[in-house]
Amino acid sequence: TTRILTGITTTGTPHLGNYAGAIRPAIVASRADNVDSFYFLADYHALIKCDDPLRIQRSRLEIAATWLACGLDPERVTFYRQSDIPEIPELTWLLTCVAAKGLLNRAHAYKASVDQNVAKGEDPDAGVTMGLFSYPVLMAADILMFNAHQVPVGRDQIQHVEMARDIGQRFNHLFGRGREFFALPEALIEESVATLPGLDGRKMSKSYDNTIPLFGTSKQLKDAVARIVTDSKLPGEPKDADNAHLFTLYQAFADAGQTAEFRAALEGGLAWGEAKQRLYELLEGELGEARERYNALIARPADLEDILLAGAAKARRIATPFLGELREAVGLRSFR
Ligand code: TYM
Repeated sequence: TTRILTGITTTGTPHLGNYAGAIRPAIVASRADNVDSFYFLADYHALIKCDDPLRIQRSRLEIAATWLACGLDPERVTFYRQSDIPEIPELTWLLTCVAAKGLLNRAHAYKASVDQNVAKGEDPDAGVTMGLFSYPVLMAADILMFNAHQVPVGRDQIQHVEMARDIGQRFNHLFGRGREFFALPEALIEESVATLPGLDGRKMSKSYDNTIPLFGTSKQLKDAVARIVTDSKLPGEPKDADNAHLFTLYQAFADAGQTAEFRAALEGGLAWGEAKQRLYELLEGELGEARERYNALIARPADLEDILLAGAAKARRIATPFLGELREAVGLRSFR
């Protein structure tokens, strides 16, 4: 069996990038034979970026409802909140003690903050918390705890998965005595959607405020699509599909035939307004029914709670004994 695992940080409303880069491939993968999948809400990670408790609580609810609305089957998949698994922070500490500081110095998120500070002439570590610095170790614990082989993610997470490999390998080497405690994970990337563009053409991201929310109303979806930035070519003028992020977005949700047709229409001079209408219809077709499920789920937080607690119990049936073995391996054993 192949073990697949991925998580989403609970700091905001899920957007099309999360869906195309992680949720959709993860759910498709979970339906194959001989796979065991683990999908979770990375709510400890959320604390690194957000000190607004209401926002975190709301986002946890939204992301839980999103996974289920998109077709995750909690009977088939282990579906839980990171913060319901106390073994995760404990494993994080064991890994922190073997993770090289030099490795973490190279993490993109930390480096970006330092570079920004330096550019502004400030103290390099201004505003940098230990949470941000150690972010990849917590993520390594998420992945290694369940011995995941494959991690479906967007391109921005590849480095983190590679760091989890490094850290896991180092632990195996130091404490394994011939046993590979941790499987070494690989990022599972769908090339065509690994970096889904946002409204302005940059990576769709909460931090750029350029997202299209996954489950806004159909009116909100239509309005968001209308705000996608295009070039100023007039109706009738041929459009360059390969340089239009509107086309990239379309392609991420269409099959090969629809994509070829859309390309031909753009090259034949389809007006941008008409192109947006077609993209909107495509998205509405893919998301409309899931949106109804989402709205029903989010109205029943107590049911979501039950599902997540059952998932946490399932996850801990693996995590608790495994952590026990790891504790023994590093020398934390009973005296008896
Ligand atoms: P997060 O919450 O930023 O994003 C969740 C997932 O969505 C993907 N994604 C995108 N994919 C394609 N195009 C985009 N524009 C786009 N924007 C976001 C991300 O790559 C990610 O797969 N650290 C992780 C959460 C995490 C995790 C883990 C993931 C915590 N522990 C263990 C995998 C395994 C994060 O902040 O993702």
